[in-house]
Amino acid sequence: MLLTDNARYHAKVMKRPQTIADNSPVQSEQTQPHSDLLAVVAKHIQYPWQKPIPEHTRQAGEAALEWLNSRDCSNIVLDSFCGTGLSSSLLAQRHPDACVIGLDKSADRLSRHCPNGINYRLFRAECEPFWRFLLERGVKISHHYMLYPNPWPKSGQLKRRIHGHPAFPLLKRLGGEVEVRSNWKIYIDEFAEAWAALSQPGVVSQLKIDAPISLFERKYRDRGQTLWQFRSSA
Ligand SMILES: C[S@@+](CC[C@H](N)C(=O)[O-])C[C@H]1O[C@@H](n2cnc3c(N)ncnc32)[C@H](O)[C@@H]1O
Repeated sequence: MLLTDNARYHAKVMKRPQTIADNSPVQSEQTQPHSDLLAVVAKHIQYPWQKPIPEHTRQAGEAALEWLNSRDCSNIVLDSFCGTGLSSSLLAQRHPDACVIGLDKSADRLSRHCPNGINYRLFRAECEPFWRFLLERGVKISHHYMLYPNPWPKSGQLKRRIHGHPAFPLLKRLGGEVEVRSNWKIYIDEFAEAWAALSQPGVVSQLKIDAPISLFERKYRDRGQTLWQFRSSA
């Protein structure tokens, strides 16, 4: 017998583990930072990420450098996982003397961007190899925003989260003030723990959103969800 969409959804929900932290908008069996987190980060510090940079990422990186050079810009802001790029245009207004680079792997999301300003550009690329490309080319950034990255909430998905990925130690080398936002506090707490493991200080705080800076931020704010932020400190 074929399940209807409703029945399939019901079956999926009923199968969820009982340990879900129900006060979190993100459904996960994790009720605290992942127990493997520090071991995973230590391994990624000890064994630097070696995966070759794909040709399409290299091309996106070259296009970004060409644009930066054309603007003679020394103050570079990265908006990784920018989605439709609304945040990139708003960050460009917040940093009028900077060049803002928005990065996302989804052509569909990027195609929905409404251009608004000249000191930012969106590029289609996987963020992690793009970060490696920038490092290879000696680029340093002043601010790095990572707004509402996919949470990958199953505990088996730790390595897909920014701080569980082998590219995570590159963030320190890229430099700049790092800001990560999420509606899942555990994600932000994990990021802060991982950041501390890079011998870098930072602060976790609750956000109060008056003017949302991205579409996901607006969606979560409108749903009344509590939002969290990690900010690196000097
Ligand atoms: C939850 S959305 C958030 C989008 C936007 N920052 C916002 O707040 O509205 C996450 C975005 O990350 C992008 N993404 C996920 N993994 C990525 C990766 N490794 N490299 C580049 N983009 C990625 C997805 O395509 C998606 O647009």
